[in-house]
Amino acid sequence: MFEIIHFDEIESTNTFALNNLDNLKDRQVIIANKQTCGKGRLGRKWISDIEGNVYLSIVLKPSQIYNPEMPLANLTQYMSVILCRTFNDYGISAQIKWPNDILIDGKKISGLLSELKIQGTNLKGFVLGVGVNLNLSEQHLLEINQPATALSLLLNKQINRDEFIQNMLNKFFNELESFMDNGFIFIKNEYISRSGFLGNDVVINSLNHKICGIAEAINNDGSLLLNSNGAKKIITMGDLFCL
Ligand code: BTN
Repeated sequence: MFEIIHFDEIESTNTFALNNLDNLKDRQVIIANKQTCGKGRLGRKWISDIEGNVYLSIVLKPSQIYNPEMPLANLTQYMSVILCRTFNDYGISAQIKWPNDILIDGKKISGLLSELKIQGTNLKGFVLGVGVNLNLSEQHLLEINQPATALSLLLNKQINRDEFIQNMLNKFFNELESFMDNGFIFIKNEYISRSGFLGNDVVINSLNHKICGIAEAINNDGSLLLNSNGAKKIITMGDLFCL
């Protein structure tokens, strides 16, 4: 159903996948024990020098021609639901912060970074990067520049990384086809029920500006409906912070 390539140490599983798309198959998974240059969203760094955590990328090549109707932009939201289901298996209830951060008690435990390569009308491939804090100490968390947590700290025991990954990937690939056929609507209700920000006063930071308002709803395409002083705004990208 999917194939895995393992690396002990690599710059970034996303960078490797993007640079080698021509030689990688659809559903190829790249896993590293450590990354020397882990990338986060919006040009940030993802701390990746501690073993026992999830640093992986999934390569998808759903077709050779790029079709804007494909729900590629929503795949991170699909994965955020899959991650919540995986945490449930450990007795942990996680919440999604739009668009795709996973928080537990307000602290980040997982981040997703998607990258798309298109050449003309050709879809070279889509890369979905997944980082999950499974085994980190309180000391390690101090290195992260935002409130963060790890599954090992929540459960007070070492977490088996390979078991976690296998469970998560099985869940992801089991329903991938249905998700690709139906798009965000396929997970919309569950995404909303696992969201921890709707109805709150929020600020959205995107590359060059900030916008404040009430996070009113999630639209059928996964975008956020913001009520900013009575004006309805549709937000498709950015970082959300609850006020
Ligand atoms: C975020 O900023 O929240 C996204 C973090 C994504 C980190 C993962 S770790 C595996 C993959 N390779 C990378 O360089 N980044 C992603």
